Amino acid sequence: MAGRIPQDFINDLVDRADIVEILSNRIQLKKAGREYKACCPFHGEKTPSFTVSPEKGFYHCFGCGAHGTVVGFLMEHDRLEFVEAIEELASFYGLEVPRENAGNAAPVSPSAPLLDLLAAAADLFRDQLRDTPAAVDYLKQRGLNGRVAAEFGMGYAPAGWDFLLRKLGTSDDRRENLLKAGLLIRNEDKRVYDRFRDRIMFPIRDSRGRVVGFGGRVMDNTEPKYLNSPETPVFHKGRELYGLYEARQAIRNPERLLVVEGYMDVVALACHGIHNAVATLGTATTTEHLQRLFRVTREIVFCFDGDAAGRKAAWRALQLTLPELREGRQVRFLFLADGEDPDSVVREGGAAEFEARLAGSQPLSEYLIDNLKAETDLNSLDGQARLAELARPLIGAIPEGVFRDLLLDRLAGEVGLSAKRLGELLTGNAQPTRNRMPAPQQRVRTGEGRNSLIRRAVCLVLQQPSAAATITVPDGLFDLPNPGIALLTDLLAAAQENPGSKSARLAEEFASHPDGGSHLASLLVTDLHLEPDSNWQAELQETLEAVLRQELEKRFADLTRKAALGLSADEKQEMRGLQSRLAELHSRSS
Ligand code: CTP
Ligand code: MN
Repeated sequence: MAGRIPQDFINDLVDRADIVEILSNRIQLKKAGREYKACCPFHGEKTPSFTVSPEKGFYHCFGCGAHGTVVGFLMEHDRLEFVEAIEELASFYGLEVPRENAGNAAPVSPSAPLLDLLAAAADLFRDQLRDTPAAVDYLKQRGLNGRVAAEFGMGYAPAGWDFLLRKLGTSDDRRENLLKAGLLIRNEDKRVYDRFRDRIMFPIRDSRGRVVGFGGRVMDNTEPKYLNSPETPVFHKGRELYGLYEARQAIRNPERLLVVEGYMDVVALACHGIHNAVATLGTATTTEHLQRLFRVTREIVFCFDGDAAGRKAAWRALQLTLPELREGRQVRFLFLADGEDPDSVVREGGAAEFEARLAGSQPLSEYLIDNLKAETDLNSLDGQARLAELARPLIGAIPEGVFRDLLLDRLAGEVGLSAKRLGELLTGNAQPTRNRMPAPQQRVRTGEGRNSLIRRAVCLVLQQPSAAATITVPDGLFDLPNPGIALLTDLLAAAQENPGSKSARLAEEFASHPDGGSHLASLLVTDLHLEPDSNWQAELQETLEAVLRQELEKRFADLTRKAALGLSADEKQEMRGLQSRLAELHSRSS
């Protein structure tokens, strides 16, 4: 098992990679001024709206909104995982990918022994299934065939408390690792025993086919019906999808993938020749799930139960999907009747019945609009404003591009407004009031409000790292509690340390920054309406001061309001301090 790739290596690789060189091996680029143009490989088009900036090291399609760095391109275009993309890039430049602790006598990766034990457990469970007629009968009675059971590596964990413990826990070290892998449990009395007992076992494989966890189902009505591996160093429910590895073994490049709710749904569909289903692991869909799916396919169909819980899960999935939408990507929703699931549908009606249901699934836009219409009375002006209010965060979450425009048009048509009027309502000054829709899980950054200045500062550093070189950071800026400040601080530091960095390198380096790093790829291509030869440094300096001024002014206004009720001595002093600080900042800016 290989160790982590050092971040420095990734930084340097992204810095030195020539995005034009890498992309021109894959698509036809034409020089246009400082940039290059091409027909976008991610959606069908006849006139090129895909542009590549060699200086900044990124691409952007004005048609569908696809954008990213050379690493992102390789992931998207060649359908690679991050590490694979790094390896591809390194091998292009004839570089060996270094791994942390390589060359040590110690194990290369702490997860290697866990993966070995998980693989060994999967083998043991499989053997046990073969030798346990009751388990085989259970699967047969549920309509499963042996070929599919083998494809998915299904198994059986025998009853008793110490099957794995005895077979695999042959030393203290191994028992510790079995605990870490989630296969054993240690109770309060320090007793150690098997987690999975008398259950049908579904091994969960990662994108490379390695077993990283298990789901286990009882064969009767005992509770809990399903038991899953806990989060471990090698198993993250928010990341893995049951059946994705198997789907890709069956279909290299699936045109669509179905997201269903259960393990049994995935294997039952496979038994009926439907090999493109995956399931989340008893948890809600995450952004990371979606990104992995869209790396493999262009179309996702979410299949949900028709009950209230299913509807709620569907709406959450919709909200999470919006930021990932762009032309060329499609999302549909299939609602089954209450009490049905994909397993029961194929068992009763066969593949044909399920395909018929799929054909009747709803496109995302339709599902979204139907939901909004159901929430509002469009015959009244109030209702129209309310609809705009409900739509605003949803539309705002969709990346700019053709899909968003289409959705706006469609929404306008549906509610009998012109797209222009609806656009006004959406961007207008109608103050948001109560919002009865569930709040989107991700903060929607539409560029309005107090955080837009922070966002602008982040964009400036990101798009022109050299501008940060000689900046004087205004005192107190980094202490502000606002979202984005931590990211801005770290970006500024990195840009100052390496003034020659490409934008793309910073975007990659901070992509997983907890303070909004996932937005960097789109901030990379946010149009700041500045010319390349504008004074970016002055612009950045002013923006940083404006951020601070704005926050201090807000605090000052809060204290002023509060003064009517009386201020503490500390607050009075703070106000005096703020007053002189603001006077100083204002004199500098005028
Ligand atoms: N699940 C879980 N823990 C539970 C119940 C369910 O993790 N106690 C997860 C499992 O991943 C399961 C999925 O939720 O596959 C769907 O659960 P459920 O709807 O209960 O599945 P059923 O279709 O009822 O399962 P089966 O067909 O096996 O009875
Ligand atoms: Mn079921």
